Amino acid sequence: MDSVSGLLATLGVDDLSPAEWCQVFFIVSAGCVFMIQVLPDDMRSALMDYGARRAKPSQASAEKTKAQAPSQGFFDVLTSYGQLPHSWFIHFYIASVLWSIFWGWQFMSKGSLMRTMAEMQHRSQSPEVDLTGTLVAWLLMSYQGVRRLFECIFVTKPGSSPMWFVHWVLGLAYYTATGVSVWIHGSRAILQSWESPQPIHFTPQIIIGAAVFGFAGAQQNHCHSHLAGLKKYTLPNEGWFKYLICPHYTFECILYLSLAVVAAPAGCMVNRSVLCALVFVLTNLGATAYGTKAWYADKFGAGKLAGKWTMIPFVF
Ligand SMILES: NC(=O)c1ccc[n+]([C@@H]2O[C@H](COP(=O)([O-])OP(=O)(O)OC[C@H]3O[C@@H](n4cnc5c(N)ncnc54)[C@H](OP(=O)(O)O)[C@@H]3O)[C@@H](O)[C@H]2O)c1
Repeated sequence: MDSVSGLLATLGVDDLSPAEWCQVFFIVSAGCVFMIQVLPDDMRSALMDYGARRAKPSQASAEKTKAQAPSQGFFDVLTSYGQLPHSWFIHFYIASVLWSIFWGWQFMSKGSLMRTMAEMQHRSQSPEVDLTGTLVAWLLMSYQGVRRLFECIFVTKPGSSPMWFVHWVLGLAYYTATGVSVWIHGSRAILQSWESPQPIHFTPQIIIGAAVFGFAGAQQNHCHSHLAGLKKYTLPNEGWFKYLICPHYTFECILYLSLAVVAAPAGCMVNRSVLCALVFVLTNLGATAYGTKAWYADKFGAGKLAGKWTMIPFVF
């Protein structure tokens, strides 16, 4: 135990608050994804591509590819181990919903884990979110988890494409850290509400942020429905897909941006921990969208993608 605290002290992270631990996780993960982007394309693709981008070729084209392909690189061999079904994405939303229920139950029951973390966070004296912003952010995150879970069960068309176990582990860790990030900056308000009732008031910032969140969620649902209605694998070309290659990723970024606005401390535009989550989402989905564009260009021809943005209109 002493050696663990010694190591943390050497690294200068022994007195990080729970929010700062979440921020470190998001930024280090985003940094790793970013560094993978500078690798040669075949290595990047072996480490990053999952889902349809990595789908097994049909028997006939597999034989053709085998005859033409150069020998596999180290990362192809490495990532050929531990491939799981892409449909295991559902575990992320089960985890997200379970964390939302757990933290909701901790709040209602004045639970010891929430109290310990809230006291640690409160001691760090970082800017605090009021009770309304904290509860609305928690509710929105719960809603997002439930919606995505329902989409996985009732909307998504089953496929057989794979995902590397590292993506699966990272996804579970991401939803664990996000579950904490949405309430941790409201620690003081939570502790105070356990002593005496706290006022609930909806600021324009919370209302606008929640409205944008609702809009982005509805649009993302349309995108997922369109993908589910396609023959696997064809080029999506309806709705937002007319303008963007991965609009479902665009709306994911808007969801987290609006969540960061809702959960902002008084006098701030955004919640720092949720903003760090957004940095991770932007990096991760940006890299995946890049892989999607390359896959579509290869499969359908670059001309079919002309005039479409990859993920962020006018930027990327
Ligand atoms: N917060 C985060 O860090 C994070 C990270 C990743 C994803 N997400 C979110 O999770 C959601 C799903 O992401 P994803 O990366 O799994 O999306 P995706 O790779 O586009 O796949 C979504 C679904 O659409 C199917 N699909 C994709 N392209 C298709 C095509 N051309 N034709 C027919 N079907 C197609 C896939 O089939 P297969 O199952 O057969 O592949 C899968 O069922 C997105 O909204 C994304 O924003 C969030």
